[in-house]
Amino acid sequence: MTGNLLEIRDLHKRYGEVEVLKGVDCTMAQGDVIAIIGSSGSGKTTMLRCINMLEEFQGGSIRIDGEEIGYETAGGTRRRKKEKEIARQRAMTGMAFQQFNLFPHMSAAENVMLGLVKVKKMARDEARSVAEKWLDRVGLAERRDRFPGQLSGGQQQRVAIARAIAMNPKLMLFDEVTSALDPELVNEVLQVIKDLARDGMSMLLVTHEMRFAYEVSSRVIFMNQGRIGEEGNPREMFHKPQTERLAEFLKTSTFN
Ligand SMILES: Nc1ncnc2c1ncn2[C@@H]1O[C@H](COP(=O)(O)OP(=O)(O)OP(=O)(O)O)[C@@H](O)[C@H]1O
Ligand SMILES: [Mg+2]
Repeated sequence: MTGNLLEIRDLHKRYGEVEVLKGVDCTMAQGDVIAIIGSSGSGKTTMLRCINMLEEFQGGSIRIDGEEIGYETAGGTRRRKKEKEIARQRAMTGMAFQQFNLFPHMSAAENVMLGLVKVKKMARDEARSVAEKWLDRVGLAERRDRFPGQLSGGQQQRVAIARAIAMNPKLMLFDEVTSALDPELVNEVLQVIKDLARDGMSMLLVTHEMRFAYEVSSRVIFMNQGRIGEEGNPREMFHKPQTERLAEFLKTSTFN
């Protein structure tokens, strides 16, 4: 497939009367790492949730690998696709959140295996070896048989990332995956994401870790009140902001 991995055109999203995405455009190529920054309430999470069809949206389109996500237009009418089709499309992306949501009664390996067995219908032996490969990649080879309660927050988040990536998504969406972690655990998670980026994984990541955004991304998007306020390469964005809004935002952000 040639062309863009992700193409968002004029995305509009309302919650009731309130429009929270007011025409967002974004394209990314295979292997791009895009950091999304911006103040609270600017629409960052909503944008990721639309891509993953966890939210409905009222206008515009999202395409992944050329495929229109969530809706189809026939005879001028826009209709939500069938749930089965949406479920299939949702699997094109993997998502990791602030809250890791692991199953507490399952070991790390079982958590990673679950989707492989249930959704991908993989045999248990094969699923276990895929799970072990990914747990190894996130530095948890020794801890694969532990339960979430026996792991630190950073380790649990790495399990959650392994679980998403084991499903072999085309695109990973990360939403403030370090926000719930104690400061000393942040780096181990960021390092895992950096390694994945280096290996060519395409990703959109919402973060308030400015230094991380600077180091890991090929492009930065600054969201401001439901629109893209500014975008560019990390160097331009952090050193030469073009808009007052971004300059202000950077002043109030911690850069550590
Ligand atoms: N389920 C909901 N119902 C109504 N309004 C919502 C809902 N979820 C989000 N919003 C509103 O949509 C806007 C964008 O929210 P969103 O969570 O996308 O912001 P964000 O940029 O991720 O913020 P933060 O940095 O705090 O995570 C906010 O004004 C928020 O109050
Ligand atoms: Mg958010």
